[in-house]
Amino acid sequence: MTLADSPPTVAAATLPPLALTEWRNLPAEQQPRWPDASRAARVQDQLALAPALTAPADVRRLASGLAHAGAGRAFLLQAGDCAEPVGAAGLAAVRGKHRVIGRMAEIISGRTRLPAITVGRLAGQYAKPRSRPEETVDGLTLPVYRGDLVNGHAADPAARVPDPRRMLTGYATARAVLNELHLIAHESASALLPPDGSYTTGGAGLPTRAWDGSLRSILKDYGQTATHRDGTWRHTGLWTSHEALVLDYEQALVRRDGHTGEDYLLSTHLPWIGERTRRLDGAHVAFLARLANPVACKIGPGTGPEALTALCARLDPHRRPGRLTLIGRFGAGRVRAELPALVEAVRAAGHDVLWVCDPMHGNTVTTATGVKTRHMSAVLDEITGFFEAMHRADAWPGGVHLEIAGGDVTECLGTGGPAREDGLGRAYRTLCDPRLNDDQALLAASAVSELIAKG
Ligand code: PEP
Ligand code: CO
Repeated sequence: MTLADSPPTVAAATLPPLALTEWRNLPAEQQPRWPDASRAARVQDQLALAPALTAPADVRRLASGLAHAGAGRAFLLQAGDCAEPVGAAGLAAVRGKHRVIGRMAEIISGRTRLPAITVGRLAGQYAKPRSRPEETVDGLTLPVYRGDLVNGHAADPAARVPDPRRMLTGYATARAVLNELHLIAHESASALLPPDGSYTTGGAGLPTRAWDGSLRSILKDYGQTATHRDGTWRHTGLWTSHEALVLDYEQALVRRDGHTGEDYLLSTHLPWIGERTRRLDGAHVAFLARLANPVACKIGPGTGPEALTALCARLDPHRRPGRLTLIGRFGAGRVRAELPALVEAVRAAGHDVLWVCDPMHGNTVTTATGVKTRHMSAVLDEITGFFEAMHRADAWPGGVHLEIAGGDVTECLGTGGPAREDGLGRAYRTLCDPRLNDDQALLAASAVSELIAKG
């Protein structure tokens, strides 16, 4: 990697590439209804002129890590908030997430000897698909909260009005979060450096290099665990991912890579399509299909093999390892029965995908008093069922996707958290779905490491 490899920022006048706007004629679920369309258009113009948040070289680097994970040579650990806050709260949460994901990754790598590819639900996880347009909070019925990119979480009708300027706040926070991740990476790099602080990316005798705009150059092993000289595992950084839901925001952050001529979504490294927006004829699938990024897609219960292979054909037409990650979120009661046939169908269609388990979204329950929670027993059972199903289909269980707080919250019940529902209120802080606290996250990582090691 040299300075010459780093991508130029493409002038907004050349954007958007024609093919990338095809989605505008297709049904787009879960989009905000901005009250003032001209203001939304002005915000998009501003975003299209703003610097990209990620670099194509890094996106390609992650894609290669995902290809390794798909082939059984690495394991994907993807985790973070259900709904990430924008502003100071979002920035303040980064180090907690980095720390706990790093510890989880070291548990997995220490036990299995496989590198863990670490990806945060970070720096853009600001928009939420919702099942209902309204919700009732303390007796007040309000338009539902759709994530900080769209409206405010406060139980106040004025806060719930979609405001396109929130896309600028989201962009600014994502930029600050990425900057914080770069700083953390620099700190870890300097801990490994000679006392004069210089570093080279080549070898002994080469001059110190200036940062070339890619995370790759800060640390060779950025975004994955790697072994120290003494054989212990260290963790160096996080790639970013989010659900690419609000297409006005995402479209404005597409940039053409001047070197390869490909179009990248540079709001993140790894965008995914959610369970509610993955319809084959829909805008989200059309939009992600045209991007050069690796892409992920959630797969819920009831997904048939034909529907899934049709989706794979759209999202991975060239059948490229590392391109497509399928994140199953079936629920503990259904994963064993439903997953093996899907794995076989996808393989028979010639796609070399990375299979990942999301043991959170199929296991959400609501208590009698209306609090959303998840039982650790169900989360661990779905992870176990995922490994069993993958073994049955003779395929590699390549990763997990978790909602974690990076702190001491009381949102999920059972081991490591409150034993009873009346304990949930003590530190229930999520903006959307219930997350694992640190103890529960580490427990999940240990369970995963044992299942991998068992083979
Ligand atoms: C999520 O990941 O927060 C989410 C909404 O997931 P899904 O699309 O699987 O329901
Ligand atoms: Co969620």
